[in-house]
Amino acid sequence: MNLPDDIVEALARAGARLGPFQHLCWHEDVGSTNDIAMNAAMHGAPEGLVVAANAQRLGRGRLGRSWASPPGGGLYVSVVLHPRREALSLVPIAAGVAIAEGIEAATGLCAGVKWPNDVYVGTRKLAGILAEAGSSAAGEHVILGFGINLQPAALPPEVASRATSIEAELGRPVDRGLVLAECLAALATRYQTLQRGAGDEVIGAWRLRAAPHLGRHVEWDGDGGAQHGIAHDIDARGALLVRVNDQIVRVISGEVRWLT
Ligand code: BTN
Repeated sequence: MNLPDDIVEALARAGARLGPFQHLCWHEDVGSTNDIAMNAAMHGAPEGLVVAANAQRLGRGRLGRSWASPPGGGLYVSVVLHPRREALSLVPIAAGVAIAEGIEAATGLCAGVKWPNDVYVGTRKLAGILAEAGSSAAGEHVILGFGINLQPAALPPEVASRATSIEAELGRPVDRGLVLAECLAALATRYQTLQRGAGDEVIGAWRLRAAPHLGRHVEWDGDGGAQHGIAHDIDARGALLVRVNDQIVRVISGEVRWLT
């Protein structure tokens, strides 16, 4: 499908800053861009392929949730990555940082992260990331999908009080091509940082964006039910460290909820 003009122009302006993300396939309407990208990777698609859509019928989020994806309401994008094995556990963390940076560069909005990689403005979610691993004869790959709410119409009523969109925050229309290009450029930079073994830089950037939430009382679903503690930090592999009484507990999957 032909790329819309606004997307072509924004990607052309970003040029070499897009790093490996030079080839983009655009679809008007798909099930899930993650499925299209996974299928392409299974058939040997090179690192850096970008699949984006104007709408998704079966957009999905983390933890088996759906991701509302009405036409033009958001950016729905998936990229094919071939990370080094040592970089794998930090790919979701790097992606959260990069999407926050890209949104900030394109719009001026101050974007924070919530472990592991939800992007927030204040206490409302603006973007989400879904990383899925696969393998083919060419080796292992990760499909990194991100959804960014552009318009209030992207938000279903059940999440409207906890979520936001770029246009709701700015109070004006946004250049979606610019948001896409800046997010891909930031992702290129952060991913290349991971690939050269400098995960500590990514973790440092994550800490700064998560700072307002570190020290907060959180709840998560652990073995044996809901657990509580104080969010403390992340470790070198991207696990959340939570202080429970006098001990530090590593949370490696699932979701944390802010209690205070
Ligand atoms: C989450 O916060 O739960 C993750 C949401 C990820 C949504 C994106 S939209 C593009 C890609 N395709 C999907 O089906 N999901 C991801």
